[in-house]
Amino acid sequence: MKHKTFNIAIDGPAGAGKSTIAKLAAAKLSFVYVDTGAMYRAIALYFLRSGVKPEAEEEISRRIDGAGITIRYEDGTQKVLLNGEDVSGQIRTEEVGNMASAVSVYPAVRAHLLKLQRSLAASADVIMDGRDIGTCILPDADVKIFLTASPAVRAMRRYRELTEKGIVCNLQEIEQDIIERDARDMNRETAPLKQAEDALLLDSSGMTVSQVVDAILKAARDRRAETGEDAG
Ligand code: DC
Repeated sequence: MKHKTFNIAIDGPAGAGKSTIAKLAAAKLSFVYVDTGAMYRAIALYFLRSGVKPEAEEEISRRIDGAGITIRYEDGTQKVLLNGEDVSGQIRTEEVGNMASAVSVYPAVRAHLLKLQRSLAASADVIMDGRDIGTCILPDADVKIFLTASPAVRAMRRYRELTEKGIVCNLQEIEQDIIERDARDMNRETAPLKQAEDALLLDSSGMTVSQVVDAILKAARDRRAETGEDAG
């Protein structure tokens, strides 16, 4: 009989360090890392390319099936394909991020990705990060983490990341953007960003990356001990 997969859900606001942490923890556990934000970003790119306005809910809902999203792994790294085209590099801009936050509000967009996300979790041991993984996508996840950090800390991290890439940016604008994105992600009607009741809250503001990773590995170990599964 096929053994049930072990799933770790990590939710939290933009810039809390979810992807950095999830990638490291996945490598330590030999789990697959699934970045669901990349899927929303690929959909955002699809509509940006055809000049659709973020507020055009009716048109976006009608045309969502035109955005075929698939995932591929190359050397353990997730690649997101939009109608067969690898767009992993093109989705990492602020413009795409803001459009993703806007279109992810629409129920038709969320429904479009639900099946793909659930089937990935059913087919392998995964660490999946996003906004609604513990609350909606994988309500029975073995471990749920809500990873957050203060807006000021998140803005500073993002500022450093962009500056290191040689991108000129403004710290105050980044912080303002983060606050707006949080408000939109938390206040939408469908699957808003919120901590699942059974999620472990980790505030990474004053923690190092390895402290956060260790906390997640410990939560996974504890859960396995509880359920009597072999530690992996
Ligand atoms: O994590 P990210 O910045 O790549 O996500 C981009 C946007 O996608 C984010 O502002 C909200 C949306 N999103 C979502 O609604 N649900 C998810 N599971 C992941 C992302």
